[in-house]
Amino acid sequence: MPNFKTKEITMPNFPVRFGDSDFEYLASSGKDEILVKVSQASEEFFLQIRKKGDKFLVKGDKISRPSQVVFLQQALRDFRDLCQCEATFSNIEPQKIKNKKRYRVLKDIDFFTNDFNSNKEIWMEVGFGSGRHLMHQAKLHPHIQFIGIEIHKPSLEQVAKLCDIESIDNIFLLDYDARIFLEFLKANSVGKIFVHFPVPWDKKPQRRVISNEFINESIRVLKKESKLELRTDSDNYFNYSLEEFLKLNRANLQVHKNQNLEISSKYEDRWKRQEKDIYDITMVNEEDSADTEPIRKISFDSYYDFNLIKEKFSNTIEQEGDSFLHVEDIFRINDDAGMLKISFGASSKNERAYVLFLDKTLQYFPDNILQTKANLKAHNLLNNWLKEIVS
Ligand SMILES: C[S@@+](CC[C@H](N)C(=O)[O-])C[C@H]1O[C@@H](n2cnc3c(N)ncnc32)[C@H](O)[C@@H]1O
Repeated sequence: MPNFKTKEITMPNFPVRFGDSDFEYLASSGKDEILVKVSQASEEFFLQIRKKGDKFLVKGDKISRPSQVVFLQQALRDFRDLCQCEATFSNIEPQKIKNKKRYRVLKDIDFFTNDFNSNKEIWMEVGFGSGRHLMHQAKLHPHIQFIGIEIHKPSLEQVAKLCDIESIDNIFLLDYDARIFLEFLKANSVGKIFVHFPVPWDKKPQRRVISNEFINESIRVLKKESKLELRTDSDNYFNYSLEEFLKLNRANLQVHKNQNLEISSKYEDRWKRQEKDIYDITMVNEEDSADTEPIRKISFDSYYDFNLIKEKFSNTIEQEGDSFLHVEDIFRINDDAGMLKISFGASSKNERAYVLFLDKTLQYFPDNILQTKANLKAHNLLNNWLKEIVS
């Protein structure tokens, strides 16, 4: 990841514009972590500064990452030059900076909450990796709107670039946890869901994409007679998934072993060279699901005095059913403004964000938290916790 190390940083007065970046404010926590808010090319994110030995390490904050790594590289270079840092290590030098082109097919959650209204049938691929299968399908089926969901930034950028080069215009790519995004889609709107070679997560099974909940959400969003296709090289994951599918009261499942598809992914090629077995479980949805209200982003109705929060803050974990809230840290921006660092949601697919108290408004940052059932429960836990603190 782009970063640089320096012995000294001469902090500027905020807000300040330098190069292509607006540096809006600095937030510091009691745990020696400093965040600098950057706004650049309509992207908003934090740089993180931490003391490591006698040096400062300056890099991108993991919770608020920009859509493309070039924006982070540019912000780091602007910050380094603004603060007159003499970098003792750096991987953000000009020769390593790629073209700052915004990829057409790369979308954020705001696009899906505000602008997305496709008349086309949707097919979705979860964890598309190299994108070989996704792009193959998109070229074969131009009348279908594909949504590719990935959490690995380099794959997102690589596939976005290929789609631009090959002028593929029926794919949208999104950096989001597919398990959460599924709750966002309308009932009976999806023609196919591909989950090819998901990470088996043998040691952290709670992180697996396939789960009882994911299967039920897939049934809700799939049209009648449409399919969820799981393909895996892992015996363990195959057995686990089959068990999860069989928890359904009624199911139409097909199982194949070593079935060849018309396109082989990068992973698949590797497993085939190693002569590993490959399993497919295809679930045909037989249900028409009831329409549900589309879920939106969560916002706050009330504001709480940050000074009171600051006084009484302590690291807190709250639980309600399958949802939790962990208030991990507090950051000060100025006398009246600051933020909380939280993780929350279902323990199997937790999210992380900041809660920003600024200009007498309260908002999540990044402002992309969807009203999933687990997130809403956690949001209520947070509101109750805030109310209690200020009372
Ligand atoms: C083993 S790779 C397989 C990639 C591709 N499907 C293939 O066959 O080559 C699994 C991919 O799933 C992505 N992934 C894992 N969990 C995910 C999630 N919850 N939502 C979206 N993508 C996820 C990973 O980042 C990784 O790129």
